[in-house]
Amino acid sequence: MTEDKTIWWNDENSSVMLIDQTLLPTEYKVIEITEVSRLADAIRRLEVRGAPALGVAGAFGVALSAARCVSDVEFDETIASDAALLKSTRPTAVNLAWGVDKVLRSMENLPPEMARVMALFAAKTIAENDTKACMLLGHNGASLLPQIGTVLTHCNAGALACSSWGTALGVIRSAKKMGKKISVVSCETRPLLQGSRLTAWELARDEIPVTTIVDSEAAFLMRQGKIDAVIVGADRITKDAVFNKIGTYMHAVCAKYHDIPFYVAAPVSTFDAAASESDITIEQRDRTEVSGLFGRTTVPENVPVINYAFDATPLDLVTAIITEKGVLYPPYDFQDMK
Ligand code: MRU
Repeated sequence: MTEDKTIWWNDENSSVMLIDQTLLPTEYKVIEITEVSRLADAIRRLEVRGAPALGVAGAFGVALSAARCVSDVEFDETIASDAALLKSTRPTAVNLAWGVDKVLRSMENLPPEMARVMALFAAKTIAENDTKACMLLGHNGASLLPQIGTVLTHCNAGALACSSWGTALGVIRSAKKMGKKISVVSCETRPLLQGSRLTAWELARDEIPVTTIVDSEAAFLMRQGKIDAVIVGADRITKDAVFNKIGTYMHAVCAKYHDIPFYVAAPVSTFDAAASESDITIEQRDRTEVSGLFGRTTVPENVPVINYAFDATPLDLVTAIITEKGVLYPPYDFQDMK
């Protein structure tokens, strides 16, 4: 896994290639995307997901729009509407809009021919820098983990959620490289099971010991003294909270109660330091993600479902935030981020 990419550009066809994450762990399939509308659909369906990978997807999306728009007359209009479409797909992970905007800025005031080249260069740079950031933050965070111990994680903040290597799982990979013996408890992450499908798959592939639990088991394992640290990724970090997969807040509260360190690993592209928790839209997804299991209906049809994809964890529950620029400790000051 560690050498694979999650999402990349195909120079031959001017297309975007990505691992279809909805099929894992039973099927490993790479898909080719040639239209921005199809990429938007892939983002909505979580074929590609995870904040840093969404940043790369947004960036390649604008490059794809530029590469595919043959009309110089309609160029600016097409790019603007494709960029808006991409940004509208998922509201919470700030990296998506960040990746789109960064590539848009690289094309500003350029004629189409030049803009296409610059857009692709900027998008490829974002993808490369994402891997570098993950490796650096992995290195920065590895010393926080015990020499021998068990780390609990939630959702998938691994190579599949990034260009490669991963954020939370990047720290675990780097710790392993340092010779530490880390076992991972991967919460299954209802309702779409990114933890049991993706985190368990990629760690097992790398021969890092991993055990899957149902999300509601985490507190009991902490009470039994079986968890030495919790480490998660982030979709957005505001001046007062960390936004990550629904269930993260619950783990942070439980970790605090049991006096277990709670770490967040994220690149600086995930910071939205000017914003507060109340400014952020938390994505709510379709009820069918919750109301069906094993091909059966598991919630009566007349019962409503609340399906928030993310939650917000107040910063006073966060022991440290691991970035490529270094490790941040309370009291947090994100002035220099981004
Ligand atoms: O809905 P998803 O699968 O995109 O949610 C992903 C997460 O919440 C990850 O933990 C987060 O993006 C960090 S990824 C390095």
